Amino acid sequence: MARPKVTVIGAGNVGATTAQRIVEAGLADVVLVDIVEGLPQGKALDLSESAPVLGHDCRISGSNDYADTAGSDIVVVTSGLARQPGMSRDDLLAKNTAIVRSVVQQATAVSPAAVLIVVTNPLDAMCHVALQASGFPRERVLGMAGVLDSARFRTFIAWELGVSVTSTHAFVLGGHGDTMVPLPRYSSVAGVPLTELLSAERIEELVTRTRNGGAEVVALLKSGSAYYAPAAAVAQMVAAILGDTKAILPCAVLLRGEYGHRDLFVGVPVKLGRGGMEAVVEIELSAEERAAFDRSADAVRELVEHLPAG
Ligand SMILES: NC(=O)c1ccc[n+]([C@@H]2O[C@H](COP(=O)([O-])OP(=O)(O)OC[C@H]3O[C@@H](n4cnc5c(N)ncnc54)[C@H](O)[C@@H]3O)[C@@H](O)[C@H]2O)c1
Repeated sequence: MARPKVTVIGAGNVGATTAQRIVEAGLADVVLVDIVEGLPQGKALDLSESAPVLGHDCRISGSNDYADTAGSDIVVVTSGLARQPGMSRDDLLAKNTAIVRSVVQQATAVSPAAVLIVVTNPLDAMCHVALQASGFPRERVLGMAGVLDSARFRTFIAWELGVSVTSTHAFVLGGHGDTMVPLPRYSSVAGVPLTELLSAERIEELVTRTRNGGAEVVALLKSGSAYYAPAAAVAQMVAAILGDTKAILPCAVLLRGEYGHRDLFVGVPVKLGRGGMEAVVEIELSAEERAAFDRSADAVRELVEHLPAG
């Protein structure tokens, strides 16, 4: 049986690391695409030459031509600009909208059955652009944010309690940004809710660190932003989809009335399988959690309303 094919658009930090994780885990052959000539080819060659040492046979190639991406099972979109000094939020929104629209149109034209995983920020708004540019059903347009935000929360929980990260579970819902909604009640260590293990004050400190997780890495790096954990999060979504595992992971999906919102991409728990999103899992939210979720959804809606028409 042919190995699955994954296209990763954007051969920058997140894209190249995602490609690396996918081939090194033996999940799929990968085509890495970028607008810069030589960049995806060079990184793909370097990654290919790691394969004999690591002992995997997945193929990875680099290209500037979407013809090479034809027939992909999954297309991961990481292409975009980071905010430069002097660039307003609206400038960034307009530039990344144009980039995401263009790459999604080109990629989906030759991979009409693919599942799209959007990574480019502002994440939830870029999911709307990808949905519109692809014309795909909502089941096949997913945004990566919740897996990363939950992984950050789990890291801090494990450090705090001195336990293995593998014994922790956490859910972070809502939009990808300052208004994200970590849910301590649904976060646990070996099945015991976090709320029974830590004081409310300490939980709040871990939640705040999770909310600022991206900014904390940026502040340390000085230039660029996080990519190891984001790439790991994308690879987990890819594994769940290609393996048809039915894993329940927090992803940004277009809500159609679930959680009281409609026609808006927001992070919620989703069952993933070969067709992409197979179900939105609705969990009970307390009044306080619901208010935080609604605030987060409102922030996404405001951004979406600022999207340039296309
Ligand atoms: N959703 C999340 O949780 C999350 C996490 C980390 C990063 N991000 C976002 O992912 C994006 C990528 O981050 P990065 O650190 O890899 O940035 P990067 O600058 O290292 O890489 C971006 C790449 O996109 C390429 N590119 C630009 N325009 C293109 C086009 N039209 N076609 C093809 N390629 C194009 C650039 O040449 C560059 O190689 C950013 O928008 C970042 O904010 C999101």
